[in-house]
Amino acid sequence: MNLLELITKRYSERRYSSQQVTDDDLSYILSCANMAPSAVNKQPWHIYVIRGEKLLQFGDVYRRETFKEAPLCLVVTGNHAQSWHRSDGKDHCDIDIAIVSDHIIMAATERGINTCWVCNFDVPLCKSLLQLSDDEEPMVLIPMGYALPGTQPNPKKRKDLNDIVTYL
Ligand SMILES: Cc1cc2nc3c(=O)[nH]c(=O)nc-3n(C[C@H](O)[C@H](O)[C@H](O)COP(=O)(O)O)c2cc1C
Repeated sequence: MNLLELITKRYSERRYSSQQVTDDDLSYILSCANMAPSAVNKQPWHIYVIRGEKLLQFGDVYRRETFKEAPLCLVVTGNHAQSWHRSDGKDHCDIDIAIVSDHIIMAATERGINTCWVCNFDVPLCKSLLQLSDDEEPMVLIPMGYALPGTQPNPKKRKDLNDIVTYL
């Protein structure tokens, strides 16, 4: 698979079978995360691996079937005290976390594991369950696993290239 094929293969999966993600796949995915670039190489992230009984405790953080079914969920947090702040004050934490999260998601896709970006969750509850400091913000939940049998990937709806690119 070339990169475009891999990127096209990824889609948001919101229903999962009970098949477990192997430790070997998880270890590969985390190694890919660890190679992510970040502003001034600050690597202001932390990845919490949640599964089994622990994941059930997170049911109210994201009240969807996705969360009840997925065998595994990663919570990616960003630490605003560690991230690079440009001289005009712009905090690059969100950008860094988006990159590391995409590494995780693309690595999972390569291994045939389905995922979904989830940002619409209860942040205060997640913070309290993970006992995070004020500086550490949970930014992305990444449930992962295998689609239910017979599931079709969502059709890709994207803007036309001409509408998003300007050649000067
Ligand atoms: C930053 C971000 C946050 C998202 N948050 C959610 C979410 O909270 N819940 C959800 O079901 N999907 C969420 N999504 C998935 C998008 O809805 C999805 O990526 C988009 O509709 C395109 O579909 P595709 O991923 O199947 O290509 C999010 C995606 C991104 C990139």
